[in-house]
Amino acid sequence: MQNVTYILVFLLGTATAYKNVTKEFVVPLDHFGFQRNETFKIRYIESDEYWNRGNGPIFFYTGNEGQIEEFAKHTGFMWEIAREFEAKIVFAEHRYYGKSMPFGDKSLDNEHIGYLTSAQALADYAQLVNFLQGGKSLKPKYPVIAFGGSYGGMLAAYFRMKYPHLVTGAIAASAPVHMFSDMVPCEVFHRIVTSSFNVASKVCRDNIRQSWNVLRTFVANKTNADWLKKQWNLCVAVNDSKGDVQDLVDYLQTMYETLAMVNYPFATDFLLPLPANPVRSVCQYLSQKLTGQKLLEGIGKVLQVYSNYNGKGDCVDYKNTDYGNLNASGWDYQACTEMVMPMCTNGVDDMFEPRPWNYTQFSEDCHKKYKVYPRPDAAWLEYGGDRLQAASNIIFSNGLLDPWAGGGLLSSISDTIKAVVMIDTAHHLDLMPKNPNDPESVKMARQEHKRNIEQWIRNFRLNNA
Ligand SMILES: *[C@@H]1O[C@H](CO)[C@@H](O)[C@H](O)[C@H]1NC(C)=O
Ligand SMILES: *[C@@H]1O[C@H](CO)[C@@H](O)[C@H](O)[C@H]1NC(C)=O
Ligand SMILES: *[C@@H]1O[C@H](CO)[C@@H](O)[C@H](O)[C@H]1NC(C)=O
Ligand SMILES: *[C@@H]1O[C@H](CO)[C@@H](O)[C@H](O)[C@H]1NC(C)=O
Ligand SMILES: *[C@@H]1O[C@H](CO)[C@@H](O)[C@H](O)[C@H]1NC(C)=O
Ligand SMILES: *[C@@H]1O[C@H](CO)[C@@H](O)[C@H](O)[C@H]1NC(C)=O
Repeated sequence: MQNVTYILVFLLGTATAYKNVTKEFVVPLDHFGFQRNETFKIRYIESDEYWNRGNGPIFFYTGNEGQIEEFAKHTGFMWEIAREFEAKIVFAEHRYYGKSMPFGDKSLDNEHIGYLTSAQALADYAQLVNFLQGGKSLKPKYPVIAFGGSYGGMLAAYFRMKYPHLVTGAIAASAPVHMFSDMVPCEVFHRIVTSSFNVASKVCRDNIRQSWNVLRTFVANKTNADWLKKQWNLCVAVNDSKGDVQDLVDYLQTMYETLAMVNYPFATDFLLPLPANPVRSVCQYLSQKLTGQKLLEGIGKVLQVYSNYNGKGDCVDYKNTDYGNLNASGWDYQACTEMVMPMCTNGVDDMFEPRPWNYTQFSEDCHKKYKVYPRPDAAWLEYGGDRLQAASNIIFSNGLLDPWAGGGLLSSISDTIKAVVMIDTAHHLDLMPKNPNDPESVKMARQEHKRNIEQWIRNFRLNNA
């Protein structure tokens, strides 16, 4: 986990603090059965600073896998357009993340985690919207626009699809709604990671592809473990009889994936502190063809940028699978139940070690951890997967440098299910605070979002007049 105080200092140049309050809202533990009648509280962040209480819209962020402050802080787009739309802002925290825990610190235990589903979370959001409208007996007064990025973008889209009477339209940024079994090839994610590195430097990509063998051969000689520990600033030296080498390989793979995802044109601490254009930035250490220990030294420098950009000199904790600034422990359970997203690599179309998708293995691992088996078709059955023709008023935006775009909706399927494609951006840059380094593509995407929001609000008012 990153040190929070440092991050605040780090961001001072770019972050704007908006007036807001954090509130709590009581929701049922189980929306879909009647036997468990407990309730608990989810949190939400609210701002009425710009709101026209007469009929101003509600901009509602459907919180995803993490503490809600993190999304409120990085979704500058909503805050920046709130004034001109005279909108109320709400960021709702997803159950089982942050402080919205139904069973306190026991929530993630196997006997309590079962109420963590996207459908339960959306039902929480529906009750909250209903409350914000003043209750069901009143005609809805305020148009509600859902926003979300990544899994939050899927939720924004699904919120509109499942609750069209409550939600007027949705901006679903970088939402991998097709990243499910049999919808896209399992290689697609890592192909895009690789192509993002290729755009920065072909040599860099080739060095990374070579590095796996070099690393495995190098550490097979146990006397090299100390050199690597020192050179890479590892917390513990690799010991193959403990499975450390695989853990280190996995850590490095996650590192490249993350660098591609957050390859933003400015420095930010979203997920973790990184410099502007982080892929290009790390590729400077791998821009010449390297072999042997020289190659490992280069990878070591990449590792320092990724794990230590805050300059605190913390060792690289490659055995810890916590993900950046998001406290997203619950996501693994979601991935093991309804959000089964097959991923694989082949080492040819991507720069990783070949690793096929093995559903049997995946399913058994899930059962070991949570005593449940996944339902690989759940997202398709529940939310339509790649058959969204019947839905309306959703914008799906994607940046083509973002690995998740491989599971995104990239061409419009109707007048009201529209795709916005940014050729040169990473993961939901369009939702982030505007920045002098923003490419034209993201400025245009934000204009397009505003035009659609305006139209949805206009239609809401016509229909509710
Ligand atoms: C919300 O308010 C707190 C202070 O109460 C502030 O620290 C934070 O930055 C604000 N959030 C946003 C997104 O501006
Ligand atoms: C919840 O259920 C229990 C029995 O299971 C019952 O005693 C209690 O009154 C119920 N509470 C509410 C609020 O319905
Ligand atoms: C292991 O590495 C050490 C030091 O680099 C070297 O002296 C030794 O020959 C290597 N052993 C094998 C089996 O390659
Ligand atoms: C590596 O791990 C094995 C098994 O846990 C242990 O017996 C051995 O002492 C370890 N080696 C080193 C160098 O720590
Ligand atoms: C993340 O959430 C878990 C479960 O609630 C909690 O035990 C842990 O302390 C949290 N970690 C951080 C860094 O907030
Ligand atoms: C997939 O995993 C299962 C269970 O671990 C294993 O028995 C099977 O051989 C694997 N299949 C392939 C193609 O590797």
